[in-house]
Amino acid sequence: MKIDIIGAGSLGLLLAGRLIASGNEVRLWCRGIEQCRQLEDEGLTVSYDDGRDSISISGDRFASAAIEGFAVAYLHEPSDWIIVTVKQDILHNVLPEFLSSLKKEQVHIICFQNGIGHMEMLKGLLPKANLYAAVTTEAAKRKSLTEVIHAGAGEVWIGEWSLRDGQAPIIHTDLQANYLIEVLNMAGFSAFLSNEVDTMIYRKLLINAVINPLTAIWRIPNGELLASEERLQLMKELFREATMVYDACGVTYDDDAWDNILEVCRLTAGNISSMLADVLASRTTEIRWINGSLVEMAERTGTLVPLHRWICQIVEGIKV
Ligand code: PAF
Repeated sequence: MKIDIIGAGSLGLLLAGRLIASGNEVRLWCRGIEQCRQLEDEGLTVSYDDGRDSISISGDRFASAAIEGFAVAYLHEPSDWIIVTVKQDILHNVLPEFLSSLKKEQVHIICFQNGIGHMEMLKGLLPKANLYAAVTTEAAKRKSLTEVIHAGAGEVWIGEWSLRDGQAPIIHTDLQANYLIEVLNMAGFSAFLSNEVDTMIYRKLLINAVINPLTAIWRIPNGELLASEERLQLMKELFREATMVYDACGVTYDDDAWDNILEVCRLTAGNISSMLADVLASRTTEIRWINGSLVEMAERTGTLVPLHRWICQIVEGIKV
């Protein structure tokens, strides 16, 4: 399969490494020219902490180039799938310029972001596109511009994005999506097609809205959130406000959603959340698309979410 991967952060490198190793033709689109140069010279490595052999791929087995050249390359030689792994900030503020020339194309595009709001933006930008959203529990940590540590195997759930306004779930007849699932499984991922990807996105949003800002503000790994009653109380309050918003918007969540958040903290106890990683690297965080989306949903329904408002301002204020 021919695959374009836009974004060479931890998840982009992990997907690229395994997909190339299992025989797919991958073009990896990076933000910086330095990363392209290093990928070309040194190749790409997926390594493991548990003693498993790493996967090393030489630079001549795949193409890597700066994102600016993506649309021209795609129009000249289209791929079967475009996988987008960049963070929300880049997706909203950098990609539109490069994607807009594909507005007449029936591209197959799949997005792996935390938070919400980007699928609506992409639908406006690429009205003919077949848009898919993905939710993953794969854990990956980028060690350098060319090496990623596959820190924990998880699952990848993919679904067509169009379950809007109470429309009936889609029966998946898209052969290209089934083929992608097959390709991902052959690359060693546990990938599934789902009619409930929206539910999964909102489930993940709830987890991210509680864990990410607090770990970013306190600069602690996820497991440390459970270390004191004060921390748990703030988590619980964020959770309570978020579920009020869900109730007001008719978004369903599991009865054990709170226990699930505690479980994620335990299972990822030593991990640095993606928001803390952004703060530590002085990058723009995804707070606007996580807690900020909840605030917007609250505004639409007249729900009061003072803590989510505050937490957005606190996290936004970290980066000057
Ligand atoms: O964004 C993240 O870091 C992850 O989604 C999660 C689940 C909070 C674990 O670190």
